[in-house]
Amino acid sequence: MARIGIFGAGYVGLVTGTCFASLGHDVVVRDVVPEKIDALCRGEIPIYEPGLEELLAANRDRIDFTIDVAEAIAGADFLYVAVGTPPTYSGDADLSAVWTVVEELAAVAGSPIVVMKSTVPVGTGDKVRVALDARGLTQIGYVSNPEFLAEGTALRDFIQPDRIVIGAFDSEDGDRVEELHASLDAPVVRCDVNSAEMVKLAANAFLSTRISFINEIANVCELVGADVESVAKGVGLDHRLGPHFLRAGIGFGGSCFPKDVSALKQLAGNSGYHFQLLSAVIEVNELQKRRVIAKLQKHLGRLRGKTIALLGLAFKPDTDDLREAPSLVIAARLSAEGAEVRTWDPVVDGSDIQGVTPCPTVLEAVRGADAAVIVTEWSELAGLANDEVREAMARPLIVDGRNLLDPAATRAAGFAYEGIGRNGSSFETLPETAEPELRI
Ligand code: UGA
Repeated sequence: MARIGIFGAGYVGLVTGTCFASLGHDVVVRDVVPEKIDALCRGEIPIYEPGLEELLAANRDRIDFTIDVAEAIAGADFLYVAVGTPPTYSGDADLSAVWTVVEELAAVAGSPIVVMKSTVPVGTGDKVRVALDARGLTQIGYVSNPEFLAEGTALRDFIQPDRIVIGAFDSEDGDRVEELHASLDAPVVRCDVNSAEMVKLAANAFLSTRISFINEIANVCELVGADVESVAKGVGLDHRLGPHFLRAGIGFGGSCFPKDVSALKQLAGNSGYHFQLLSAVIEVNELQKRRVIAKLQKHLGRLRGKTIALLGLAFKPDTDDLREAPSLVIAARLSAEGAEVRTWDPVVDGSDIQGVTPCPTVLEAVRGADAAVIVTEWSELAGLANDEVREAMARPLIVDGRNLLDPAATRAAGFAYEGIGRNGSSFETLPETAEPELRI
C-alpha cells in the first residue's frame, strides 16, 4: 500500500484522499486553512458531498489532516496537487496555489511522484518539471492525472471512473500511478503530459458546448413550437451522440465549466488561435440565464415591485456550491429590475447574496409571490405544482428553469407554466400572424 500526501482539502483533495484511504492507502491531506484542518480532524466535512462524511468516518484510521507540509511529504510515495486554480480577471487560470506547492516541495527527501490533479493550462507540467529540475529535485517524478469528478457524484466518479488519464514524462512514473488505480475497473489512457492536460480542458469544453447547443435548440424550439425534451431524447438516442448533457435549462455554472471554457479560450488566444466556438458557448450561457427575466416580464410586465421566489440557489442539486451559479445572475438582474427577491435552497444559506430574502421553506418563499422560478432542480421541488403552493402565491406562475415539472400537469393544477424550450411555452402566446423576431 502507498503513502499519499495530498495538497488541498477542497472537493478534489478530500474526495481523492478519502477514496484512496478506502482503497487501503495511507493518506495525509494538507491544507493552509487551520480552521478547515481542525474541523476535518474532528470528523466534520466542510463541503456537502453525499456519502463523503460516512466514507471518511469508515476510513478515519488511514487518513490524517494537517497544516504542516513536512507531515504531508514525509515518506510519501505520491504527492497529489489538488489546490484551486480559479480564473483571473483575464480569464486565464490562476496558478499561484500550484506554484506555492511546488516551492514547498523543496524539503522533499526520497523520490516521490508529484501527481497533478488540479486543472491547469496545457504546458504547466513542462514548467513545473523545469522548476523542479532547477532546484535539483530531478529525482521527483511528475505525472498529470486530471480529475473528472462531478460534485454530487464525486465518490462514484472516483470508484467507477469512465477513464483514467495518465500523462507522464517518464513511463515508469506513469506505471506507478497506474498501479495505484489497479483495483478500479476503467480504461487507462497513457499519453504525454501536455495531452493529458488538454484532455481535461477539452472534455469540460465539449460538455459545455453540448449544453449551450441544446440551450440554443431550446430557444429555437420556443419560436417554432417544438419541445426540446422530445428533441433531446430523439437526438440523444443516436449512438454517435448519446443522451448525456443534453438537458436544456438556464445555463451551466459551478467552479469548473465556466472557468475551464474560459481558460481554454484564453490558452488558445495566448497561443495565437481564436477559438470562436468557445466564445459562442460562453455568450450563449450568459444570455441563457437572462432569458428568465424576459419570461417573467412576458407574464408580469414590469417587474418593479413584483415578488419573485427563486427556488434553488446551488449551481446544481446535491451540492452547496454557489460558484458561478445562475441564481446569482438572476437574483442580481431581478433586483436591478426593482423586484423583491425571495430565495429557498435546502442546503445553501442565501444570506450572503445581496438584496435577497432567504426563506426556510418553499412555502414561505412563494407566499404572496407573483412568480416562482425553479433555478436548481432539487428533488424537493418535483411536487411544487400543488394546491397549497397555488393558494399561497399571489399569482400562480411557475418559470421552470430546469424543465423539472410536467407542463401539462402543472397547467392542469392551475398554474401558468413557462419551461425552457418546451412545446407551447412561449409559442402559444404569439399571435398567429406575428412575424418571427429575434429574441434573446
Ligand atoms: C464538471 C464535470 O462534469 C466533471 O467531469 C469535472 O471533473 C468537473 O466539472 C471539474 O472540472 O472539476 P461539475 O461542475 O461538478 O462537474 O458539474 P456538472 O454535473 O458537470 O454540471 C455543470 C453544470 O452544467 C451545472 O450547472 C448543470 O446544471 C449544468 N448542466 C449539466 C446543464 O445545464 N445541462 C446538462 O445537460 C448537464
